[in-house]
Amino acid sequence: MHASPKGAEESRRSIDRRPKTSPAKLAHVALATRNVQALRDWYVEVLGGTVPFEGPGIAFISYDDEHHRIALVELPDLEERSGAPRVGMHHIAFTFADLGDLLATYRRLKDAGIEPYWPINHGVTTSIYYQDPEGNIIEFQVDNFAVASDATDYMKNNFGENPIGVNFDPEELIARYESGEPFEELRKRPKLPDGVNPFDLIPD
Ligand SMILES: [Fe+2]
Repeated sequence: MHASPKGAEESRRSIDRRPKTSPAKLAHVALATRNVQALRDWYVEVLGGTVPFEGPGIAFISYDDEHHRIALVELPDLEERSGAPRVGMHHIAFTFADLGDLLATYRRLKDAGIEPYWPINHGVTTSIYYQDPEGNIIEFQVDNFAVASDATDYMKNNFGENPIGVNFDPEELIARYESGEPFEELRKRPKLPDGVNPFDLIPD
């Protein structure tokens, strides 16, 4: 029989004396679907993903070192979305490494016939939203600030005036990006025109 752990090891292994612990990371999202193949194809395309495993009624999609980021499961008797606003999760957001990757992905998807649902500069991010074939919304974004605390400061200081953002035209942003305009300018959220309620920008 082993002796009980002592000293540092003992306190490290104690679960009673740990401070409040947050999860180490957000791992994956699982979607219940009526058509696992259609969603598998769509997520592989938009995420540049792979399928580590699939079987009857189930598929897992990965795009980095995590074994899966999206799980798709066909469940019986699922109701179609009514299209009406509903409570619950609104969208899943994915961050790209830089604005060039975001805009290149926009262009690649457009060429594949996948049009964005909502391009918006949130201030803290430049974001392009899409809807999957069953109406789930995903957000592709790039951070507008290199330092996370600067984004938090921006949120604290500017979201009172507008917590949603300002829409933009991706093609116009691509033209500005390719002309060599500095990222410091490209990332700036313009002022919302007077009289516009930012919540009205959110598409139905
Ligand atoms: Fe978001």
